[in-house]
Amino acid sequence: MLEEFDMTEIRCTENQVLRALEADITTLHVDAIVNAANRSLLGGGGVDGAIHRAAGPELLAECRTLHGCKTGEAKLTRGYNLPAAYVIHTVGPRYYSDEPDKPGLLASCYRNSLRLAQEHGLHTVAFPSISTGAYGYPLDEAAHIAVRTVMASLASCPDVHEVMFVCFGASALRTYESVLKEFDKKSI
Ligand code: APR
Repeated sequence: MLEEFDMTEIRCTENQVLRALEADITTLHVDAIVNAANRSLLGGGGVDGAIHRAAGPELLAECRTLHGCKTGEAKLTRGYNLPAAYVIHTVGPRYYSDEPDKPGLLASCYRNSLRLAQEHGLHTVAFPSISTGAYGYPLDEAAHIAVRTVMASLASCPDVHEVMFVCFGASALRTYESVLKEFDKKSI
């Protein structure tokens, strides 16, 4: 399904690959897409709004049973009308808030989302750029945290074979491509 996208990729291990692509995350046929939610888990704008619109009302109904989500944590629901089987909802830090350790909280979003994917035997996971929209996190800084954390987490998530960084625009894609190349060089 993903072959029609032009993707930059780095291979972390024998059967684990990271990719960046430009797409609308709600269209991807993957085991799980990650939602950049807020702590209520009751929907919002941005990618949260797009995911809820595409999934349909049953997603909100299931989210209501989860009683919210702390910043940096992640919770799983089904994908309903989405092509993705599941949605992993995670809450990123607000860049201009007084939350302590924002880089650590953002890293926890990626680490906890992958932990949930591993626990549920999911093999393909697609992330948006968490916190880089309404929550104001600078994209380049967030992309470094995202790629570094995913690379460091994959060793403990052997069943996760493919992680996609889904960019909503060409400029975001250029950022992720450059960060992936930077980390690929380091790992040689
Ligand atoms: N597919 C992929 N990426 C998308 C999509 C989409 N359909 N729509 C938006 N994005 C990108 C944005 O361009 C941005 O890079 O997702 C990234 C995250 O932006 P937001 O959705 O604004 O999320 P965030 O910055 O984490 O703020 C979360 O916004 O939507 C509300 O309810 C949400 O309160 C929460 C806050």
